Amino acid sequence: AIIVLDYGSQYSRLITRRIRECHVYSELVPADTTLEQLQKNEHLDIKGFIFSGGPSSVYDVDAPSCDPAILKSGLPVLGICYGMQLLAQSLGGHVAPSNGLREYGPATIEVLTEAAADRESFRIFEGIKASPQQTDDLDTPESQSLRLPVWMSHGDSVDKLPEGFRVLACTESNPVAAIGSPQGYIGLQFHPEVTHTPQGKDIIRNFLFRVCGCEANWTPGHVIDEAVELIRQQVGDERVICGLSGGVDSAVAALLIHKAIGDQLTCIFVDTGLLRAGEREQVVDTFGNHMHIPLVVVDARQRFLDRLANVVDPEQKRKIIGSEFIRVFEDEAVRLAEKQGNIAFLAQGTLYPDVIESTSHDTASTAKSIKSHHNVGGLPKEMKLKLVEPLRMLFKDEVREIGAALGLPEDWVWRHPFPGPGLAIRIIGAVDEQRLNVLRAADKIVIEEIQKAGIYRQLGQAFAVLTPIQSVGVMGDYRTYANLVAVRAVTTGDFMTADWARLSPELLGRISNRLVNEVAEINRVVYDITSKPPATIEWE
Ligand code: XMP
Repeated sequence: AIIVLDYGSQYSRLITRRIRECHVYSELVPADTTLEQLQKNEHLDIKGFIFSGGPSSVYDVDAPSCDPAILKSGLPVLGICYGMQLLAQSLGGHVAPSNGLREYGPATIEVLTEAAADRESFRIFEGIKASPQQTDDLDTPESQSLRLPVWMSHGDSVDKLPEGFRVLACTESNPVAAIGSPQGYIGLQFHPEVTHTPQGKDIIRNFLFRVCGCEANWTPGHVIDEAVELIRQQVGDERVICGLSGGVDSAVAALLIHKAIGDQLTCIFVDTGLLRAGEREQVVDTFGNHMHIPLVVVDARQRFLDRLANVVDPEQKRKIIGSEFIRVFEDEAVRLAEKQGNIAFLAQGTLYPDVIESTSHDTASTAKSIKSHHNVGGLPKEMKLKLVEPLRMLFKDEVREIGAALGLPEDWVWRHPFPGPGLAIRIIGAVDEQRLNVLRAADKIVIEEIQKAGIYRQLGQAFAVLTPIQSVGVMGDYRTYANLVAVRAVTTGDFMTADWARLSPELLGRISNRLVNEVAEINRVVYDITSKPPATIEWE
């Protein structure tokens, strides 16, 4: 594994992702983690370290440093930005504020050819080529040095190298943009982990394979075997329940657990009546009929409708749905326990970003204070269940890969996220059965057209919102007075920020046409063109 020490950069998590994309296992840990703590975990097999960037200056009074044992371990270290400065300073070099030399944003580094003669410290740039369009405009002969576009963001610079180091690259304003030593210590003043550094991934790959000697063995098959083994160890011969939501995370968690312990697992699917068209049928079909996983479907539609009657306030809706869900789930779990014997574990599809967020010093999203989230599979407190979280160390894209490897249908693997409170928070105003049916029909059309246009995977989310506005229209010779529906489609990386998707006018036209023609209760369609922030993705 490669251990990434987190010095607080907004890109820290991205470094871990990039490494895993190269099929090498990586973990992000707080900067003050000691080598001894890491070595207690025998699974880790550490091959090298990366020190991330961060907002501090090595001269700050309580600038974060690292356990000296890490630098004495003889393992390679790659320092990025602040990490490079920390590395240089710790090994006897010197860092100074680069007054007037601050660099933020795009820059070009020149990789020094004379440095290439020293093969050992140069391995980080070995085999890296300028991208085709760059060579075109530069029109340089082979022998001249390599120029690469990179992403910079720093105020300090290394002005004296530690012993044994040499400069590997510079920029116009900064003579020390990359340094290296034959022992495998490397410092990069730029960020190889961001996409604005086009050759960044090749540079990271060089660190993993040429410098650290990693093997590319973090593959879906390997991850599945390891997860199965861990689940077996944790659960033994106890019983597990898992709430299925229809989304990819809970589905993959259930598949992994079923692979590990077979019918000791029972899945519970609550039909809240707030689901999208065909969702319940698909869960029953895939999990029950195809995969033969013990599945209990609870029809709680009336319970939710009763509790939501005349409730307009979004927060109140969310709270009611969250607490009602737990109650339904709990009732069912108690019934199951009476029938099948004690249940010891609850499975949850918690992902690595949630784990990092709750342990990391970078403060978690403010989203939670803006909306009270409800997630399917919330913990029934009374039952004192222990948690099994087989996706705890995985990123979303890894979960998708594993889902596909475990036979989860393609459209399920790539499904957009759907909020726990379901369609209820996409009906502005009170929720009732009739309005749910209108929105379900509308949502189905939006998704169908987006899929037909072949852009479903490019979008983060797409859906319809039913507003309480009625407007006048004309159909044939008749006056209509019916519902206004809004269409929302966003592109996003992490759902913390999002942009409205530039759907083509033709596609929007097709969606609008079908909505007013096929759903009698709709006579007007608008498209939501607000980004997040200042809007949120959902309307409530
Ligand atoms: P917002 O509307 O806050 O949504 O921009 C960000 C992402 O979170 C989803 N979302 C939820 N997911 N339970 C969930 O599991 C919830 O209560 C919930 N509320 C919003 C939303 O669909 C988007 O993907």
